[in-house]
Amino acid sequence: MPTLEWLNKKEAVKTADKVPYKLLNIKPELSYGEQNGNMIIKGDNLEALKALLPYYKGQVKCIYIDPPYNTGSAFEHYDDNLEHSTWLSMMYPRLELLRELLAENGSIWISIDDDEQAYLKVICDEIFGRKNFVNIVSVNMKNIAGASGGGEDKRLKKNCEYTLVYAKNYCFLPQFKNAFDYTEIWELIETYKKNNVSWKYNSVLLDSGEKEYIGSTSDGEANEIKIYKRNNPMIVSVKQLSINQNLTEKQVYYKYGHKIFQTAMPQSSIRTRVMKRVSELHVNSDIYSIEYIPRSGRNKGKLYEQFYKRDSFRLFAWLKDVSDEINGILYKKTLQGTYWDFVAGTKNLSKEGDVVFPNGKKPETLIERIFDMCTNSNELVLDSFLGSGTTAAVAQKMGRRYIGIEMGRHAITHAAPRLKKVIDGEQGGISKSVNWQGGGGFTFYDLGESIFDEKGNINKQIDFESLAFHIWFSETKMAMREHKKSPLLGVFNNTVYYLLYNGILGDKKVNGGNVLTSKIIETLPKPDNKKHNKVIYGEACRLSLDRLRKENITFKQTPYDIKAG
Ligand SMILES: C[S@@+](CC[C@H](N)C(=O)[O-])C[C@H]1O[C@@H](n2cnc3c(N)ncnc32)[C@H](O)[C@@H]1O
Repeated sequence: MPTLEWLNKKEAVKTADKVPYKLLNIKPELSYGEQNGNMIIKGDNLEALKALLPYYKGQVKCIYIDPPYNTGSAFEHYDDNLEHSTWLSMMYPRLELLRELLAENGSIWISIDDDEQAYLKVICDEIFGRKNFVNIVSVNMKNIAGASGGGEDKRLKKNCEYTLVYAKNYCFLPQFKNAFDYTEIWELIETYKKNNVSWKYNSVLLDSGEKEYIGSTSDGEANEIKIYKRNNPMIVSVKQLSINQNLTEKQVYYKYGHKIFQTAMPQSSIRTRVMKRVSELHVNSDIYSIEYIPRSGRNKGKLYEQFYKRDSFRLFAWLKDVSDEINGILYKKTLQGTYWDFVAGTKNLSKEGDVVFPNGKKPETLIERIFDMCTNSNELVLDSFLGSGTTAAVAQKMGRRYIGIEMGRHAITHAAPRLKKVIDGEQGGISKSVNWQGGGGFTFYDLGESIFDEKGNINKQIDFESLAFHIWFSETKMAMREHKKSPLLGVFNNTVYYLLYNGILGDKKVNGGNVLTSKIIETLPKPDNKKHNKVIYGEACRLSLDRLRKENITFKQTPYDIKAG
């Protein structure tokens, strides 16, 4: 596969591996509300993402990032002016770590503009795999802060930005939810009229008549297609029905929406076969219907009825098949495309979240649309270029769990205060549309010391729980799913892992309970009744080699045998 080369790319590819694992320190004075797992981390996202791996590898359902676009500008809160290769070297290892954090059915959405879009696409293809590329969404950011550059020199004015979308694994990516644009049918009809475009859904099959079997034909796989003529059907135009029933045309659409149709002449082999068979049968009717089980398409496998009109066999195309009824109102639904216009309508972006963040803040509606499409309530989302905190604010309002990382001081001056207001029930942005009433909370962290020194030795300050996460991660390459309060870390590939550290068995004396002895081995909790190999981490071991062998125990000494994951 063709790849991108730049100065120092070789180093960039190795960077993520070399980043030290660091401790995350809780800052209670900057945390707020319920302490329920939501995290705001102040620090360089390279180190923060690495610190998260033992806890969250493979668990994030959706990542949204809005990195500096490298437009050569210096904004009030951050610089956007890295040398081109340096920008690529900055992005590469971060994207690699983000990929590791994504769940198998997760997706990453990356905002960018035309300066680096093409380069970003190529490195993303390399990191995520071309087969996992989903879309590039063009977002109309006209009149929105940050998208008004250009136009002063020879270039055109930029009013579009792009969002690159990749799946962790395209095969496991679920169908996007709610990925439709809805227009109220009557509103649409009026627009058509105003623009002199003909609106064709204007016939009503008031009565489909009595069906009379006239014969059968078959589809390409020899499956039966039954053909009926319809006796005494009644078709009227919307206009006529409105006169007959003293209704407005709008009322007819709402009352008879499921019976309204237009006719079309599709190139379909089924239609050709039915026409041929009817002509052989020498039958005449105003309306015919057929019944068969389609082998493909949206009605695959179900008994399906289709109607045709007269000799030309025009197919009935139903309004209900291209619309949805929501609260008694018919909406025409069109599959959302890759041009997103709705964001351009954002009013007062600068006031959203009650924080001033010029040239960078994203509208809450943009992130809402993304989370709505690819996450469910309580799933974990992440933004490692958090800026003023938009992603976390939206996640909080939509009931998603979240992690936000920001290295600038605005993590403290903007993101955290914005979230506090959200938790207190702030009513800007998407609050009204999601009926936000307040609640929840977050824990604020900064980056602490490294867990391992340059020689790979463990930091003596580390507590039992953090060490447990790191040992489990280094042994299994998986994130541990729960905080451990016992020496039993879990079972992986028929091996049970234990950690004797910091007096986890209750004995707080120096070395108390941290040394593997005959007595200690009896007290270790068992995961189940199965026979497993055992890996036991402790400060020392008093058991003979023979006993270790007999009981399938591998003893590993802390701190020397602990390897960075
Ligand atoms: C375009 S802004 C994001 C704005 C955000 N989407 C919002 O709505 O407020 C990019 C942010 O990334 C932050 N950033 C840049 N490099 C970073 C890094 N290495 N680690 C963490 N944050 C970083 C900048 O400080 C800036 O706040």
